Amino acid sequence: MMYLADENRYNSMQYRHSGKSGLRLPAITLGLWYNFGGVDNLENQRAMLRRAFDLGVTHFDLANNYGPPPGSAEENFGRLFAQDFKSHRDELLISSKAGYYMWPGPYGEWGSRKYLVASLDQSLKRMGLDYVDIFYSHRFDPDTPLEETMSALDFIVRSGRALYVGISTYDPEQTRTAAAILRDLGTPCLIHQPRYNMFDRWIEDGLLDVLAEEGIGCIAFSPLCQGILTDKYLGDTPDDSRAAKYKGEFHWGDEVSADRIARVRRLRQIAHERGQTMAQLAIAWTLRHPGMTSALVGASKVSQIEDSVGALANLDFSPDELAQIDAILSD
Ligand SMILES: NC(=O)c1ccc[n+]([C@@H]2O[C@H](COP(=O)([O-])OP(=O)(O)OC[C@H]3O[C@@H](n4cnc5c(N)ncnc54)[C@H](OP(=O)(O)O)[C@@H]3O)[C@@H](O)[C@H]2O)c1
Repeated sequence: MMYLADENRYNSMQYRHSGKSGLRLPAITLGLWYNFGGVDNLENQRAMLRRAFDLGVTHFDLANNYGPPPGSAEENFGRLFAQDFKSHRDELLISSKAGYYMWPGPYGEWGSRKYLVASLDQSLKRMGLDYVDIFYSHRFDPDTPLEETMSALDFIVRSGRALYVGISTYDPEQTRTAAAILRDLGTPCLIHQPRYNMFDRWIEDGLLDVLAEEGIGCIAFSPLCQGILTDKYLGDTPDDSRAAKYKGEFHWGDEVSADRIARVRRLRQIAHERGQTMAQLAIAWTLRHPGMTSALVGASKVSQIEDSVGALANLDFSPDELAQIDAILSD
């Protein structure tokens, strides 16, 4: 059936400036790392993209290697974009990245100019796009001068392949240096994409300060710790869960430990008192920082996207609630 976007799609979503830039991102972004690959059901993918856009989620996050197989999430997104979203291109922020392994030989991963430009050209072809809105260096490359990686990002913007650039998982010092190089080149760093959730708070130890000082936005990936910060693992591990499907694979680095589940049970009580689901509490908590631009969630079904967006109904935390959460996380 032809897709007619909901007329009310901009009524309730919040849009936040990415750092000091003029670009506003939805407070909830949908990532296509899992559940959008060649192995996944295309109609479920279509339903999730449509529902997200109808709820005001204007940002879809991809990378060259998302699948499996690698590249297939961009292919599927391209197919669905052509069928459903083409007329909405100027309402959408589409991002991609390069940094991890994509093809054999010395030019298929990391941070050289050769790899980044070739990879983005491949991504654009897979998605059927003329440009992406945001292109990321997916990881810091210790063996390539940062000047080379950043000048490749500058070139990517100047050549029209991307409107903005960002970096992902760079540490605070790498971020400061990258930001200075990009500023000198005249292409400011728009955004940083780190992992951040209740079980992984590393960005509180310096990175958030650097981003605030540099005027760079922040989009937190895996705010649900890949689903552990939900009700999903409180009983037996469901067969259709990410933990059951991908356990043992390198991507699934998160452990559904008894210790974590015990903490989730206690956190859930706070969620309940706030009138939220566990997932909503976890998302609202990541968005509590003034410099946090967006929570970058994943989903395997439409109802999860609705649940995540529902977090925006209560983003305020009392000092007492924050202290209780800290106590549960650090006990
Ligand atoms: N820059 C990087 O290096 C990097 C790395 C990783 C991810 N990312 C980006 O971040 C995005 C999100 O990562 P993520 O998928 O790990 O995020 P996440 O939001 O922490 O986890 C998403 C998973 O949690 C489960 N879930 C979501 N909502 C739920 C709900 N309401 N109730 C129960 N379970 C729920 C689903 O798992 P099931 O499949 O089990 O249902 C879903 O696939 C990725 O798509 C990607 O765009 C970036």
